[in-house]
Amino acid sequence: MSRRRLKGGSLSGTYHIREGGREFVRKDVSLVENREFGFQRWYSQLKRLQRFSVQFPDVFPNVLGFGRDRDTAYFDIEFVENAVTAHEFVTATADHAAIERMFRSLVKAMTRLHSVRFASSPEAIDLYIYEEVERKLALCEGNPAFDRFASFESIIFNGVELPPLSRRMAEYKRLAREHYQEKTECFTHGNLTLENVLYVPQDDRIVFVDPYEENVIDSTLNEYSQILQSSNAYYEVYNIGCPRVHSNRIDHTVARNPGLDHFNHLFLKWLAERLDASAAISVRLLEVSQFMRMLPFKMEIDESKMALFYALGSYLFDRLARDVVSASHHGGLDPVIALGVNAPAFHGVSA
Ligand SMILES: Nc1ncnc2c1ncn2[C@@H]1O[C@H](COP(=O)(O)OP(=O)(O)O)[C@@H](O)[C@H]1O
Ligand SMILES: [Mg+2]
Repeated sequence: MSRRRLKGGSLSGTYHIREGGREFVRKDVSLVENREFGFQRWYSQLKRLQRFSVQFPDVFPNVLGFGRDRDTAYFDIEFVENAVTAHEFVTATADHAAIERMFRSLVKAMTRLHSVRFASSPEAIDLYIYEEVERKLALCEGNPAFDRFASFESIIFNGVELPPLSRRMAEYKRLAREHYQEKTECFTHGNLTLENVLYVPQDDRIVFVDPYEENVIDSTLNEYSQILQSSNAYYEVYNIGCPRVHSNRIDHTVARNPGLDHFNHLFLKWLAERLDASAAISVRLLEVSQFMRMLPFKMEIDESKMALFYALGSYLFDRLARDVVSASHHGGLDPVIALGVNAPAFHGVSA
């Protein structure tokens, strides 16, 4: 038997296993430690995978089995051969046509999933913000590394001074209430970052892994914001390496990636053709929320990343709030401006 650990970002361990001529991917988690962010998420993922692998058999890997091994729980899924993550794919090529091909397949897979719709509720956004932003921030408060960094009136992220998001929650909620008007929800992936999308270039095939059940709102806008988390905010790029935190300063500059930028440009253009200005603002508010909802997980894994993504989310909100104010002085927002299609967010990303 051979067992190779695959890189992921959760409290689960993911392994590629070969055993007696069989190969599969095993995801295991402690049944004892940190059940809220470990076992519960692993468990709801298993259930989502079981359903989706029946409903969308070519888009989700099949669940082969699950069970218990002493104090861990595990499930096994089909191994996707010759796959790279969408993030690896776009960052390793400068071939625009190849990126466009992958982009079209991703949109197709996503649209199929999203075509199953149901009614939402006008108050759902309040619950989302409470659970996924305010409560996630509250869970970090009391952690000395978080308090040491986030309690300042301003923070300095890659040389840019800005207020931390905790001090701007009233403004965040006002913008969300004003602009988030989605009346429907749909089937979603739930954690649609580019490292959770597998791509088999030779077959032009997209496979979704690592779905997430606990989204409060399952809307297309939330899904789009998770892609932006990767392509616009450079989540996976920032997640490598070690940020430097010193009092209210945090520095972690990363190199700009032409393939990722091309993908982002395609995606922003695609969004601008489909969303009105309010939906565009909502996507950016949700992009900010992605960085807040991950903080308790980061607190468990790596405290310097907790500070980094808190700063990055605060930065993204600051920029959005400025764009909204300046547009109101210039005759209102249109989706191209609201999404910053021609001026992507660069926040310490150097050429
Ligand atoms: N079925 C699969 N076939 C091939 N590679 C996979 C498969 N499932 C996951 N991977 C690889 O393992 C990585 C981690 O798996 P993932 O489920 O995303 O774990 P985590 O919850 O830790 O992020 C993925 O980004 C992908 O590269
Ligand atoms: Mg993952």
